[in-house]
Amino acid sequence: MGLRISPPVPVAAPLMDGIVKKLKQLNFDERHCGARLGYFEGLPDFAGPRVPRPFLGPASDALDVVLALFLLNEEVPYDQMLEVFTEAELYALQAMSLIQVSHDWIRSPINLFPCSGHFLVTDLRVFPRNNLPEFNRIMWLHPESYMLAGVVDRTVRVHKALDLGTGSGIHALKATQHSDEVIGVDINPRAIAFSTFNQRLNNIKNVEFRLGDLYGPVAGMKFDLIVANPPFNPMPSVKAGTDYYSGGSSGEEILSRIISGLDEHLTEDGICHIITLLCHQKKGPTYREKLDHWLIGGLKYFDVMAHVADQSLYFRNPSSDYFLNGPIAEREAFLRSEFSRFEFGVISIRRRPAGDGHYYHGPTRSPLPLFDQDARIRFPITRLAFEESRNEFHNSLVAAGD
Ligand SMILES: C[S@@+](CC[C@H](N)C(=O)[O-])C[C@H]1O[C@@H](n2cnc3c(N)ncnc32)[C@H](O)[C@@H]1O
Repeated sequence: MGLRISPPVPVAAPLMDGIVKKLKQLNFDERHCGARLGYFEGLPDFAGPRVPRPFLGPASDALDVVLALFLLNEEVPYDQMLEVFTEAELYALQAMSLIQVSHDWIRSPINLFPCSGHFLVTDLRVFPRNNLPEFNRIMWLHPESYMLAGVVDRTVRVHKALDLGTGSGIHALKATQHSDEVIGVDINPRAIAFSTFNQRLNNIKNVEFRLGDLYGPVAGMKFDLIVANPPFNPMPSVKAGTDYYSGGSSGEEILSRIISGLDEHLTEDGICHIITLLCHQKKGPTYREKLDHWLIGGLKYFDVMAHVADQSLYFRNPSSDYFLNGPIAEREAFLRSEFSRFEFGVISIRRRPAGDGHYYHGPTRSPLPLFDQDARIRFPITRLAFEESRNEFHNSLVAAGD
C-alpha cells in the first residue's frame, strides 16, 4: 500500500504539441476507439467490462497500441511502441511522466482519454485488486463526464464560465471553446496539477485553475455558465469531498452547496448544469422540496429541470471501482435502509427574476430521449428546452383551470 504516482509534468510546448498531433493522426478519438473496443461510440466507457483482455496482440496496429497503453493500461512491448512513436516522442512521453520504460516493456501510470478533440490525462482507473492507492485520485473520465460535456449547449457564446470540482479539468477545458474566460475550481491540489497539465497539453489559454472549496476561490464573481459533476455517492463514513466520490451520508452535501451558491454566482441570463445521482431518502423531503430549500429565494425565482433516468441498479452496484476492496453487502444494506430509489441525470437551472419559476422532474421532453436504453445522452440541453418545458407547464395549468 502507500502507492503514490506523480502527477504529469508539462514540458516545452512543441513537444506537447507533437504528441497531440500524433494522437490525432492515429485517430485516437471516441469514435475510432469505440469501434475498436466494440461498443457504442457516443458515450464511452473505455475500460468497461465488455472489453476483451488482453486487448493487445501481435496483429495490433498503431491505434490498438495507443488504446491499450492509455485506456486499458496494458504493458506494450518496447519494439511494438517503436513502430508507433519515434524515439523523440517516447522521450517526450517519458519526460511528461505519461509512460514508464523498462528494458522490454512500456506501461503508463495514468489514463489518457480523447474527449471531442481534447486529450485529458487522469489517474488510473484500473488498479489491481487489494492495491487501491492511498491518495486522492483524479477521476478518470466516466461516462457521466462525457455526459455532462454533451449536455452543455456549445453554440451559445459565454463571457465567464465556472467548472466546480474540475478534477482533470474536462468541463473547464470544453467551456473554453465558447467562453471568453473560464475558471476551474477543485479542493484537491492534485486536480490543479492534472488540470493545468491538461490545459498545457491542449494548448489552451483562456482558462485558469484555482485551488479551494467550491465558490471560495471565486468569491464575488458571477458566471454565465456553471457546470459541476460533484461527488454524489452516499457514504456515511467518508466526509463529503474527501475524494472524487463521497457526497456525505445523504450523497448531497456538495450538490446542495453548489445549488445554494447559484443566487450569488449565476448571472441574470446564466445557466447551470449539474450531473448527479438523485438519492431519494425513505424519510425526507422530495427533490422539489429540497430544491426549493437549497435555492436562495426558492423555486419561485428559478426554472429547474431535472432530466433523469431510473438508476435502481445502483443498490447492487454502487461503483465497482470504488468498492473493489470494500464490503459490497454492507454497502447495499446501508443503501436499502436509507433510500427508496435512485435516479441519475442532469439538473439544469436558470433564473426567473419575475418570480414565475417552474420545476420539471422526469425524462426529457425533447423528441429524442435524453438517455438511450444504456443511459447514454443524446443531445444538448438548450435554452429552447427550458422554454418548451415552461410552455408545457403553462398549458397544463390552463388545461387544469388554474
Ligand atoms: C466526480 S469528480 C468530477 C471530476 C471531473 N469534473 C469530471 O467530471 O470528470 C468530483 C471532483 O470534485 C472535487 N471536489 C470535491 N469536493 C470539493 C469541494 N468542496 N470544492 C471543490 N472541489 C471539490 C473532487 O476533488 C473531484 O475532483
